[in-house]
Amino acid sequence: MKNEDKDQVCILGMGYVGLTLAVVMAECGYNVTGIEINLETCDSLQEGTAHFYEVGLNSRLARQLKLGNLCFTRDYRSDLVRRCTIFVLTVGTPLGDDGQPRMDMVQRATTQVAESMPDGSLVILRSTVKLGTSRSIVKPILDDSKKNYMLAYCPERTIEGKALEELRYLPQVVGGLASDHAWRATQLFQRVTPTTIRVSSLEAAELVKLLDNSYRDLFFSFGNEVSLLCEAAGLDGIEVITAANTGYERTNIARPGLVGGPCLEKDPHILAVSTLQYGFTPKLITTGRALNEDLPNQIIRLIDQDMQSTPIAPDAKIAVCGLAFKGRPETDDLRGTPVKYLIKSLRERHPNCRLVGQDFAVKEAGIRSLGLEPASLEDAFAGSQLVLIANNNAKYQWVDTDKLFASMAQPGLVFDIWNVLQTNHDLVQPGVRYTRLGSSTAWRSK
Ligand SMILES: NC(=O)c1ccc[n+]([C@@H]2O[C@H](COP(=O)([O-])OP(=O)(O)OC[C@H]3O[C@@H](n4cnc5c(N)ncnc54)[C@H](O)[C@@H]3O)[C@@H](O)[C@H]2O)c1
Repeated sequence: MKNEDKDQVCILGMGYVGLTLAVVMAECGYNVTGIEINLETCDSLQEGTAHFYEVGLNSRLARQLKLGNLCFTRDYRSDLVRRCTIFVLTVGTPLGDDGQPRMDMVQRATTQVAESMPDGSLVILRSTVKLGTSRSIVKPILDDSKKNYMLAYCPERTIEGKALEELRYLPQVVGGLASDHAWRATQLFQRVTPTTIRVSSLEAAELVKLLDNSYRDLFFSFGNEVSLLCEAAGLDGIEVITAANTGYERTNIARPGLVGGPCLEKDPHILAVSTLQYGFTPKLITTGRALNEDLPNQIIRLIDQDMQSTPIAPDAKIAVCGLAFKGRPETDDLRGTPVKYLIKSLRERHPNCRLVGQDFAVKEAGIRSLGLEPASLEDAFAGSQLVLIANNNAKYQWVDTDKLFASMAQPGLVFDIWNVLQTNHDLVQPGVRYTRLGSSTAWRSK
């Protein structure tokens, strides 16, 4: 089929969500135009280079560009856009400085779609939004255009690092303004994934997305609560969690660790704010988020306890390793990384310390943006009095801990937040203590 005979899809916002969807839709036989307002990003995409790391993305992007199935523009008035009949909005919805979810980018992008779309277009909102946004913000703007249109909300539910893969098999939830709108959106996604789930309203689909992430946040917060409880009781939290889960399918407690990222740091807040309009104040969701947000403070408290007898020297070197918001799947994304709160506390407590940072995926500029001096893993450990392993990148499992620990300043402490290093507590180097979140009190009392 010639490209001009294919369904023409326009995606607004070439961030993580928009770009991965654009590539996959192009691979599935659609002719895709990506609109991106950021000049640098748009230029780099036109040359076939993504502005973030995702396994296999660059080669697949370059291939679709070469085949002519995908193109990019900054101009929503361009002819490339005017030929489209399907519009997908994937612009950002971060929290504003006032803690409220920002819907202004959705509003602006919808206004652009209303101006560009031909009569009869399908408009799909895919950004994570406050409950009711499709009906209360998007619909009135489209109505004002006096054109016929169909409207659906179809959430993005992939995880960063596996988006290209997951787009092809995760069930796509679809909610429409009317049932034929939902049906048309379903047909679009049936070419992408084998399963589509139609729900009865735009709001139901919006809520599914908010619940998925709030549930995940809450799940992690329970594991973190258990680990803090074990710290208080002088028990080994990892041992307790492992024993509770093993061979007992009714229990699945998360291992402790920092929780954040561009979605989990905001979506439970978006859900909580959303329900206020119905006079409902959620308890669990906000408590779980608050617990996860407080975890960096708890970690600093545990480190302070650990270093009580051997305080950190005023000019000591401190290394923070694992800076991206998560380690698995590996990502270079620093948005919403909880590590920034650890760094802030360390900086306040030890203003004259030398703070270095290491990450297997984040580039030097990203490490510097956190106020850290970039270092290799070996350089990070060498001479440091305190080393924090702050995410669960699988590569930490394979490092030579004996060699790394031996290179540290003494007395030294390695705080392994995710319990990811393969080391034996009883055999660590003299003068270097190794501890992990959930178990530091237990090991201290040994
Ligand atoms: N990152 C994820 O893995 C993920 C997963 C599921 C859902 N989401 C949700 O999807 C949405 C997008 O997330 P993201 O991580 O891709 O955001 P992002 O901020 O990385 O990307 C949004 C892009 O849209 C561009 N943009 C803004 N207004 C525009 C406009 N009018 N026209 C064209 N481009 C415009 C921005 O320049 C930016 O590049 C958010 O609501 C997010 O919560 C994200």
